[in-house]
Amino acid sequence: MCGIVGYVGVRSGLEVVMSGLRRLEYRGYDSGGVALVYEGRIASAKKAGKLANLDRELALHPLPDSSTAIGHTRWATHGAPNDRNAHPHLDSSGSIAVVHNGIIENIAEIRANLEAAGHEMVSETDTETVAHLLHEELKGTHDLAEAVRSVCRQLEGAFTLVIASGRHPDLVVGARRNSPLVVGRGKGENFLASDVSAFIEYTRDAIELGQDQVVSITPDEIVVTDFFGNPAETKDYYVDWDISAAEKGGYDWFMLKEIDEQPQDVADTLLGRHDASGALQLDEMRLSDDELREIDKIIVIACGTSFYAGLVAKYAIEHWTRIPCEVELASEFRYRDPIVDRSTLVVTISQSGETMDTLMAIRYARQQRAKVLSICNTNGSTIPRESDAVLYTHAGPEIAVASTKGFLAQVVACYLLGLYLAQIRGLKYGDEISRIMTDLETMPAAIQRVLDESEPVRQLAKELAGSKSFLFLGRHVGYPVALEGALKLKELAYLHAEGFAAGELKHGPIALVEEGVPVFIVVPPRGRDQVHEKVLSNIQEVRARGARTIVLVEDGDDSVVPYADELIRLPKVPTLLQPLVATVPLQIFACALATEMGHDVDQPRNLAKSVTVE
Ligand code: AGP
Repeated sequence: MCGIVGYVGVRSGLEVVMSGLRRLEYRGYDSGGVALVYEGRIASAKKAGKLANLDRELALHPLPDSSTAIGHTRWATHGAPNDRNAHPHLDSSGSIAVVHNGIIENIAEIRANLEAAGHEMVSETDTETVAHLLHEELKGTHDLAEAVRSVCRQLEGAFTLVIASGRHPDLVVGARRNSPLVVGRGKGENFLASDVSAFIEYTRDAIELGQDQVVSITPDEIVVTDFFGNPAETKDYYVDWDISAAEKGGYDWFMLKEIDEQPQDVADTLLGRHDASGALQLDEMRLSDDELREIDKIIVIACGTSFYAGLVAKYAIEHWTRIPCEVELASEFRYRDPIVDRSTLVVTISQSGETMDTLMAIRYARQQRAKVLSICNTNGSTIPRESDAVLYTHAGPEIAVASTKGFLAQVVACYLLGLYLAQIRGLKYGDEISRIMTDLETMPAAIQRVLDESEPVRQLAKELAGSKSFLFLGRHVGYPVALEGALKLKELAYLHAEGFAAGELKHGPIALVEEGVPVFIVVPPRGRDQVHEKVLSNIQEVRARGARTIVLVEDGDDSVVPYADELIRLPKVPTLLQPLVATVPLQIFACALATEMGHDVDQPRNLAKSVTVE
């Protein structure tokens, strides 16, 4: 949460920082602010609300031009989302400006000490305290990076800090602990940002910073140390996705564009997974086959939509590998004293690679000697860096806060992992794996068909825009699809929406059904006759109680027709792969309904894309 940008170089710092913030606004949009180094002092502006408010403020009260600048877009943690709490925060002399992402946990004591020493705070934020601490440190040194290191050594919790000082033209200093910060290496200019999308317009050469590092950028130099001033190791990488991937490309919403990109994302995530002999290979599988053969349990850990991808994984992994597989919410995992040891494979799933709940679960699992494999969409992010092995999804940058293409790519990666484990443990013959891979390779076309035939779903959303409550039912892999359909609607339309395992209906949720309530039901392919018949009964049960049934069912299955008020046809695909086609109409429905209701689809209220607090 919170997007941060820093720049030193030759361009207008304000322009670079504002354009970076626009690309990072998905990370938080409670307020925005910028600070520039100008004639030995800091010139700054900040405003509550989206960046458009800051734009207006800057038009009314222009800032002087400067080529050293920092900026921030906020997701509020400490203090209400108002002008006063917006970043940057300045020290009492007004010559040091700080932007921050994260939560500093020991701030109360530090703040009390500073106030006792005469510092007056004007905001309720932990960030402002850091500006005052830096003020104190800079009394003893002119070295800004050293002052930052000293402050970092006093802080506990999670923080990315980026600092500019009026006394230090052509210098921006950043620091990170448990929160993301990347460096962009330009020619005669350098950049800092929460993620690369903020600077790929200017450079694609990036540097991954490690945990507990401080970086100083000047136009011609990048110096990275640990918190004690020792030179630190970093990793250079090249950003290979195109700038257009981070732009709307003519769509009204990023979400619409990302929904439409799904056939390509699924194809890209499947690409290059065979070696010359046809055997499956996974990209950064730094665990040996022997290590993977010793595993006797898998625990999948994730949050939100990624958690639902994990639920799909359980069905596929257990079916293909016969290894017991649990799926757990990252925020619960380490607090329940889980049984984890060196023969446990912990699989984490995260689109952003920065989710703090997931990161903390990884650290806990590794302390218990478990091996951790992460499925992640963001190269260079913290989660893959802290894992033993990585399987990257290739969905490209996902900007809309509600995950769509990220989910489908994660589900594909889970299938690949399941098949890989089956391969190395000798549980499936090569031709069996190839058959499933061939099925997977037909999925982009199947998803494209769902997209091409989605107009009735949009119409239905318009019709149902007045409904107050929605239910989603599914069994087997249709159950996580139902959960995901409900989550999309909650996030985007701010409506009551619940997903249930269809079999649970009679144990309570059926009491929610009343005249006219829309109920989406994901019907399993006929291949699973037992489950199919049960779902058919569930449709009849809700319909008998007045529900308006919206039935997602494969082509050719007419058994549901008498009980369906609306039919959404899905291409015929193998049962385990059905989430890849069944989720798409639910994404489209939520997006269309929220649009109809006049909501901001890409930036729903109260949410942020990367949840970097616990
Ligand atoms: C999904 O639409 C969400 N906004 C949210 O649930 C998300 O999936 C969750 O926060 C996990 O994020 P991650 O995949 O980046 O770890």
